[in-house]
Amino acid sequence: MSVDKEVAEYTAKTSRSRALHEEALAVMPGGNSRTTTFFDPYPFYIQRGQGAHVWDADGTDRIDFNGNYTSLILGHAHPDVVKAAQQAAEHGLSFPGPTEHEIRLAELLKRRVPSVESLRFTNSGTEATMNAVRLARAFTGRPKIAKFEGAYHGTHDWVMVSVGGDPKAGGSRKRPKSVAWSAGLPPAVLKHVVVLPWNDPEACEQILEAEAAHLACLIVDPLLCNAGLIAPAEGFLQRLRASTERHGIVLIFDEVISFRVAWGGAQERLGVRPDLTTFGKIIGGGLPVGAFGGRTDVMNFYDPRKGGARISHGGTFNANPVTMAAGVATLNAVTPEAYTRLDALGERLRGGVTRLLAATRRKGQATGMGSLFWLHWTAEPLTDWRSARPKDAEAPLRVFLGLLNEGVLLTQRGLGACSLAMTDEDVDRLINALARVVARA
Ligand SMILES: Cc1ncc(COP(=O)(O)O)c(C=O)c1O
Repeated sequence: MSVDKEVAEYTAKTSRSRALHEEALAVMPGGNSRTTTFFDPYPFYIQRGQGAHVWDADGTDRIDFNGNYTSLILGHAHPDVVKAAQQAAEHGLSFPGPTEHEIRLAELLKRRVPSVESLRFTNSGTEATMNAVRLARAFTGRPKIAKFEGAYHGTHDWVMVSVGGDPKAGGSRKRPKSVAWSAGLPPAVLKHVVVLPWNDPEACEQILEAEAAHLACLIVDPLLCNAGLIAPAEGFLQRLRASTERHGIVLIFDEVISFRVAWGGAQERLGVRPDLTTFGKIIGGGLPVGAFGGRTDVMNFYDPRKGGARISHGGTFNANPVTMAAGVATLNAVTPEAYTRLDALGERLRGGVTRLLAATRRKGQATGMGSLFWLHWTAEPLTDWRSARPKDAEAPLRVFLGLLNEGVLLTQRGLGACSLAMTDEDVDRLINALARVVARA
């Protein structure tokens, strides 16, 4: 089936969402506050979620492998999390001072992630990476930052560089140019952001060495989660660790998504200790959240005692008690054993997709680790953002819409996540739905 036919079926099923979208257009540009969740012709409006399911405004039930872009590791409205949030809310929604909930969530994170000796909370992953980058500059006294081509770290200026768009604009694969990913980025940003090629250790080492005197940090999403979930080649992160250490460059792991692959995050699973780590998504149990932390000597730039912090970090809702309580309940529910279950769900899914593609002789593959997966529509080896860009630009959207029509929700580009609310049958439902979508493509 073509995209047009999938769209026609989708619009026939979502009349109430279409009406709501019309209302939204009158008050918001494109009717929308969140670029990521928009798709043509209009997104469906979600009325409620429970466990592994969401229901839209027309009452259609879909199984949710999007999980608010991988945030909901326990699924929707987990009773422990709802209860914790309700109890916290009953005592007041926000205060002009700290609460005990903040200490408890910080303790849980520190216990799980040994590189995080000390941490602070924010309201989003974007704020977490923004603070981590600023902190690295303050600590090293150097102005530039390095990031990987294709890597997404949120929506502040310093990281909206070389995230998407046409790879030709980036020039050489081995020495990519900094390319603005958004209108409104000042040219100074491009001069201060060095872009590296994923999974090319020699090229990275050369660039880091050449730029070292000016480089404050290297920010790395250890699984390149938003550019196709392209795993680091054996030893790649270790070489980045050695190189950054040699040159006094602060190594930041952005674990906003990848934290969900193990009790101690991707850094535990891959055996690399960064200087700083950023968090978001699952640590707030579904409420707005972010955190950044790491070496105490670095984090101390935020210590407000003895004459004041060297970096100011206000935030009316930082460490909001309801979020902190929901985060504590979530992390307590995701026990070490839970990761075995999440891994098994992810493996079942990736294995099922692989078998389906082989049986139907379709070109494609499922990348990912633990509960995270990404469906690609090429059989070629995927090593970096450039190779993972879809050759048939329409394929991910066709599959996304096709799955929506089959009652399965993914992200538009192919990223998905299993939650602890899911059963093996839920995973099989995705595989069977995908089989029908592939058959009619
Ligand atoms: C790796 C990574 N870093 C940072 C962010 C930004 O987090 P937030 O959307 O909470 O600002 C995201 C969001 O998807 C992310 O995936």
